[in-house]
Amino acid sequence: MKKVCVVGLGYIGLPTSAIFANAGFEVVGVDVNEKVVQTLNKGEIHIEENGLPDLFKKVVREGKFRASLVPEKADVFIIAVPTPIHEDYTANIDYVIDATKSILPYLEKGNVVIVESTIPPRTMDDVVAPIIREHGLDPEKDIYLAHCPERVLPGRILIELVENTRIVGGVTKEAAKKAADVYRAIVKGEVIETEAVTAEMSKLMENTFRDVNIALANELVKISRRIGVDAHKVIELANKHPRVNIHLPGPGVGGHCLAVDPYFIVEKAKEESPLIQTARRINNSMPHFVVEQIQRMTAELTVPKVAIFGLTYKGNTDDVRESPAIKIYELLKQQGRFEVRAYDPHVKQEQVSFPLSTLEEAVDGAHLVVVLADHNEFKNMKAEDFATMKTKVIFDTKNCVHLHDESITVYKIGNLHSVNAIQE
Ligand SMILES: NC(=O)c1ccc[n+]([C@@H]2O[C@H](COP(=O)([O-])OP(=O)(O)OC[C@H]3O[C@@H](n4cnc5c(N)ncnc54)[C@H](O)[C@@H]3O)[C@@H](O)[C@H]2O)c1
Repeated sequence: MKKVCVVGLGYIGLPTSAIFANAGFEVVGVDVNEKVVQTLNKGEIHIEENGLPDLFKKVVREGKFRASLVPEKADVFIIAVPTPIHEDYTANIDYVIDATKSILPYLEKGNVVIVESTIPPRTMDDVVAPIIREHGLDPEKDIYLAHCPERVLPGRILIELVENTRIVGGVTKEAAKKAADVYRAIVKGEVIETEAVTAEMSKLMENTFRDVNIALANELVKISRRIGVDAHKVIELANKHPRVNIHLPGPGVGGHCLAVDPYFIVEKAKEESPLIQTARRINNSMPHFVVEQIQRMTAELTVPKVAIFGLTYKGNTDDVRESPAIKIYELLKQQGRFEVRAYDPHVKQEQVSFPLSTLEEAVDGAHLVVVLADHNEFKNMKAEDFATMKTKVIFDTKNCVHLHDESITVYKIGNLHSVNAIQE
């Protein structure tokens, strides 16, 4: 039985640990957060992900997984720590550097070291490999060093970890093969071997492709408002073309991937990436656009009461990182004119710095509900849920509200040409 040491037990490291443990590996999970380690060793988990609580309990009960504050000797090390951006939009790879240094005392010749964190191009060759070399091990001979980017969809992580195609980029050919064999033990999808830099760039381009295409859809929303056409209808019809796939517009792009990864490319090739930079600017402008529309809708009210529905960057998850909804909440508060309440059935109070409301508290006396996440709870709402609103108006930025009730006005983000200001 092989032993795997997973460093970083968040949205990626924890499900990955559970899958390896369930496949028969002995897994020790390492995290610098004491609370995370304590919670996990009790058999409980600190993140929301479909199916994970049950699988996790099972592997802990079977003694296949244990959490620790420090790494241990193992056959395989998997690094899944955060890679956020600095305020100047450059990559912060300090966590990857710290995590790599933390495993050095436990590394032995023949070990496989895999970085799953999303990293700027050339990080494996120019940053991670030199750390191992300085420690006295040859990253091209003694250690099998590889980058295997993660491309799972939150909410479907346990399925996609097994079914998705994996790209394994080795610092050497042999490293790619050894690391690919590790994944072949758990993955049903294809496992493709390549060079580290190609794996790094392919991951970044996947998210950049989506970011750029969402920017195109968001630009269409703005154009549609100007010329008076329903962007959602335009997208639906254009996508009938067999080779067109216009993405979905929304209140902005958030999360740890799409809103961050394109900057990793820009940082390394600024002059060559004007399209990527423009797309980022368009998507970053969407929270302001949403707030402008809220202002239009509430222009005639003295103290507009706005209920924000959904704070996560994505539906049916609890992830609020880089969420445009949080930005919209803050922008509204900054105006000083609005009374803002926020409701999200997936988000816990400790995740945000402002008070959360229940559904009843949020709608009570509200002039406007603004839907910012396509949680299933919002898709299935009934007219009764809005009964206590003062004026029954919903601004749906995710095109997910399907209410057909004459007493409720629903404005969709794709169709904002004729908005009537709400009357008290
Ligand atoms: N979440 C996703 O859907 C997703 C998808 C694809 C790729 N990624 C990438 O995977 C990486 C991890 O993302 P995540 O969402 O799991 O992050 P996360 O913030 O949920 O978890 C990271 C964990 O690492 C821990 N940590 C930080 N430094 C550490 C260190 N030196 N040693 C041990 N533990 C440490 C943190 O305490 C935290 O618990 C990032 O690079 C991210 O871009 C994430």
